[in-house]
Amino acid sequence: MRALFLEKQVSQDEKKIQVAKAAINELQDGIILGVGTGSTVNYFIDLLANQAMHFEAVVSSSEESTIRLQQHGILVSDLSSTGDIDIYVDGADEATKQGYLIKGGGGALTREKILASASRKFICIADDSKFVGVLGNFPLPIEVIPMARSYVARQLVKAGGNPVWRDNFVTDNGNQILDVSGLKITNPPELEKNLNNIPGVVTVGIFAIRTADKLLIANKDGVQII
Ligand code: A5P
Repeated sequence: MRALFLEKQVSQDEKKIQVAKAAINELQDGIILGVGTGSTVNYFIDLLANQAMHFEAVVSSSEESTIRLQQHGILVSDLSSTGDIDIYVDGADEATKQGYLIKGGGGALTREKILASASRKFICIADDSKFVGVLGNFPLPIEVIPMARSYVARQLVKAGGNPVWRDNFVTDNGNQILDVSGLKITNPPELEKNLNNIPGVVTVGIFAIRTADKLLIANKDGVQII
């Protein structure tokens, strides 16, 4: 008799919910919590509203997350008044096993990078479609000062990239985004540093100088901790 093996089907949304639940389990009472941005984090925010822990403060990385937190009755504090964050939870557009990330698909990279840098522990949550061997398939978001956009774009072309202006998009900081494809990201910390040095660049969507401390990656069988 021929055995019939059925591949378990788990949707991307179900994976995001699973990994958001796993992140809730990483939290403790009394901490200062940083909250990232994106569809995975949205599930995390919704779960936060229904758990019993009490946090000393909650800091948000975007207007979008702030609104969602407030809609759940969660008070959002300013990073300048809380001091450093104990645990920062955020998604990613790409993640490697070294904790290198590409972020900024949602355009919130600048505040996300500030919160990641100000955190003692950075937990990145994602489904397995984001887990890659080498960064760079996802076009790299770079936030730029509007008057420098064309200048920065020309420097990125010289560096081998193909920058595309994210049309009709303004960041929470009043800036613009270039999405850059074609860059070879073989040394993420070095490229992050070099691109950061172009005048007019506000933030590069490579998170490699401050990597994630822990990756929670959801696949069809559960959540893998890396
Ligand atoms: C927001 O600017 C991004 O950095 C997000 O954290 C990232 O795009 C992940 O978003 P999703 O969870 O929606 O994939």
